[in-house]
Amino acid sequence: MAVRVGAAAPPLVLLGFMGCGKSTVGKLLGQRLGWHFCDLDDCIEATAGARIADIFAQRGEPAYRDLEHRELLHALGAAALRSTVLALGGGTYAQPRNWEPIRASGAHTVFLDVPIEELLLRCAAMGNRPLFRDEVSFRALHAERLPAYRQAQYRIAAGTEPPAAVADRIMTELRQLALRS
Ligand code: S3P
Repeated sequence: MAVRVGAAAPPLVLLGFMGCGKSTVGKLLGQRLGWHFCDLDDCIEATAGARIADIFAQRGEPAYRDLEHRELLHALGAAALRSTVLALGGGTYAQPRNWEPIRASGAHTVFLDVPIEELLLRCAAMGNRPLFRDEVSFRALHAERLPAYRQAQYRIAAGTEPPAAVADRIMTELRQLALRS
């Protein structure tokens, strides 16, 4: 059973592949709900005092995943004290050791499901992601992670719609959830 301290609502956790809009949609949801917004990637960079690309390049992915796990625990701890929308990194929910702390926080998990072709377009245009190397490995990583993402409580199909429309649909899901509980 989830243990909640204080008056915070269960965290709202956004997950999905790189480029799916977790941070943009998460920020909008934070504004609409009047909740704190936490971007796990930003927290990792702030704590490490380094850009994610540099952490990958200098310390390697296993060290990055350790940092990410610790930062996740910290973010969930803080979310127990104030209502929070938490945007994960694209790989966070693909790491099984992160499932139990998220579950134990009582979080509602939302998978932003964007078609791979759209993700490719978005990430190719941005060029700041260490795990975006080439199209073949991008597609393979996406396929490998889908089963983990699909374990989320909600799946929101978030193709080419503007982020505000995606946030609206998540708000509708949340209202229905509140009516059911
Ligand atoms: C990663 C995705 C990135 C960031 C890091 C690793 C991944 O987050 O956490 O580069 O493993 O897919 P975004 O999904 O926000 O780009």
